Amino acid sequence: MQIDIITIFPEYFGPLSVSLIGKAAERGDIRFTVHDLRRWTYDVHHTVDDSPFGGGPGMVMKPEPWGEALDSIAPAGADPLLVIPTPAGLSFSQQRAARYAAEPWLIFACGRYEGIDGRVADEARSRMRVEEVSIGDYVLAGGEPAVLVMTEAICRLLPGVLGNAESAADDSFGFGASSADAEVTGATSPGGPMAGLVEGPAYTRPRVWRDRQVPPVLLSGDHGAIARWRRDSALRRTAQNRPDLVARLVWADRAKAAGRDVAQAQPARSQPGQSELAQSELAQSEPAQSEGAQPQLAPRRVQSGQLDEHDLAVLAEAGFPVTGQDVAH
Ligand code: ADE
Repeated sequence: MQIDIITIFPEYFGPLSVSLIGKAAERGDIRFTVHDLRRWTYDVHHTVDDSPFGGGPGMVMKPEPWGEALDSIAPAGADPLLVIPTPAGLSFSQQRAARYAAEPWLIFACGRYEGIDGRVADEARSRMRVEEVSIGDYVLAGGEPAVLVMTEAICRLLPGVLGNAESAADDSFGFGASSADAEVTGATSPGGPMAGLVEGPAYTRPRVWRDRQVPPVLLSGDHGAIARWRRDSALRRTAQNRPDLVARLVWADRAKAAGRDVAQAQPARSQPGQSELAQSELAQSEPAQSEGAQPQLAPRRVQSGQLDEHDLAVLAEAGFPVTGQDVAH
């Protein structure tokens, strides 16, 4: 994968040579090229900003250096995906990270100040795919930290970057390839066992620490029971910390139970620019399992967007009585 980053602070991207992503870059699995935007300025001060038309505080990044930078990095006929971090963009999520990880070439354009002149994205759209993306509902001083966050989330999904190929599928929000747990619980859809959920806590040696025991089921060797326990603890933690996700999951489950095919209601699966909710609905609407592959410990399949009786009982215990038509949170 090729990743180009355009910035006025190239030194900001030192961390890309560290840790697993640094190693992947060393191996040549990812190629980062960081460009200094000021290379495309020609005045003595290398000016990249100017005051906004219409007045208002702050400065806006001038279009000319950006236009030249993009022409030079992605000449006519090239097909990169240009990602512009901005608090006004589409939400960055695990789904979006996975979509970007499947792209061969990403260009990130880091704005500063009040952002980049609006014509730059418009003009770029006439010759390449462009997505404006936000990493959260807060305002950073520039796109650089957002690009570090996004590149980490994207690159760790690339084959060979994580030590354990299964870890990404089992992550919070996980929906990667089917995992060991998914096989045990019968979930073989691309929605992993954590689809739409945050993960519960993890434990390691020693078995007892400061009088606190590791949950005994994790020492039992019973993979089915462990998988069920992990899903239960994920449901509980999601109910506690992310009621918005539980509401979404329940909504998708209801839609499915009512026979509404959420995927059919949407355009193509990987349309750029699709709303985050739509993406999530798609991730949660995989086809049901065949009846033959019922797991021992999950009376109905445990699959993304589908809640079995046990899931509903765990949620009710955690304060989400999601029976009938109520979607409580
Ligand atoms: N630039 C400034 N704030 C940002 C945010 N929340 N996400 C992405 N880019 C940004």
